[in-house]
Amino acid sequence: MDIKKVLVADAVDKACVDLLKENNIEVDCKYKLPKQQLIEEIQNYDGIIVRSDTKVTADVIEAGSRLKVIGRAGAGVDNIDINAASSKNVLVLNTPGGNAISACELTCALITNLARNVYPGAESLKQGKWDRKLYTGHELYGKTLAIIGLGRIGKEVAIRMQSWGMKTIGFDPIISAEEAATFNVNHMSLEEIWPLADYITVHTPLIPQTRNLINKKVFDTCKKGVRVVNVARGGIISEEDLLAALKDGRCGGAGLDVYEQEPPTNPITLEIIKHPKVVATPHLGASTGEAQIRVAVEVAEQFVALTEKSKVYTSVTGVVNQAVYKNLKLK
Ligand SMILES: NC(=O)c1ccc[n+]([C@@H]2O[C@H](COP(=O)([O-])OP(=O)(O)OC[C@H]3O[C@@H](n4cnc5c(N)ncnc54)[C@H](O)[C@@H]3O)[C@@H](O)[C@H]2O)c1
Repeated sequence: MDIKKVLVADAVDKACVDLLKENNIEVDCKYKLPKQQLIEEIQNYDGIIVRSDTKVTADVIEAGSRLKVIGRAGAGVDNIDINAASSKNVLVLNTPGGNAISACELTCALITNLARNVYPGAESLKQGKWDRKLYTGHELYGKTLAIIGLGRIGKEVAIRMQSWGMKTIGFDPIISAEEAATFNVNHMSLEEIWPLADYITVHTPLIPQTRNLINKKVFDTCKKGVRVVNVARGGIISEEDLLAALKDGRCGGAGLDVYEQEPPTNPITLEIIKHPKVVATPHLGASTGEAQIRVAVEVAEQFVALTEKSKVYTSVTGVVNQAVYKNLKLK
């Protein structure tokens, strides 16, 4: 692929730009361009690299007369119109593995926080209070953690929380019971899972099958006081049903990093965030120095590999629209 000039449209770690330049690819960094300006600018580039802020919509792709590749430094590609890209033969790449450990570690931090009331306890002490009884928690040892989605992050969460003595059960439509057993997760149907879970953590993409996966019916079926964690995508847990369950005690606490709308402005989400039994972070799953460098380097390596001019970087990973890639290879 002939990639002469790339636009880095979101603040990706400098390592990305350095690697592209070292491999003779011209780079411009222009962050958070207003849409109209992006539509004008995109005509000058063979590739664009984004994180999650810049929306690569159909009209942006349409305007990119020489655009060949869109790189997402990170996992989710919700900000890229994949269909529009595919219909214009524009390749879309992401770097899903690069931030898996960081997202996993935040998940584990939220689970442990919920169990021991670390956040509300610390907050009350900062306010000069000494409320020890109010923040009595529970041990995770012997409790059951249900992991919905046993891909990269779900698997890592299982391995780490087992070291706390948690029993791990889970569901994933493409991971077999045998494979789940290799990392000590007991694969079950969702119906079997709900009544057993003390904690539920979701690690699926947001797709029609997973939208509102955790809903009123699930809260009705689970043990009273079940805790839920979402470091995947807003919308997998129904916010309306979660708020109702927090209010009447069917849900005993929630650890949330992602929301139906980000930044959140709708009243239900804001009420959830302020709820005393909720620990909420502003989409920090991938926000570690290590993950940011990893995804920046990975996306640059993919671009360089596509040019087929490097002896070091030769493998194109993270292809989102495989059909476009296959076409490319046939040419
Ligand atoms: N909070 C953050 O900053 C952050 C960072 C990284 C990843 N993420 C998100 O975390 C999620 C998981 O990422 P990953 O890298 O582990 O993805 P992955 O593709 O490795 O794993 C996802 C798994 O979900 C499974 N799945 C699909 N539909 C399902 C269903 N209906 N029920 C149960 N499982 C289902 C898939 O089979 C797959 O194994 C994604 O939504 C990703 O965007 C968030």
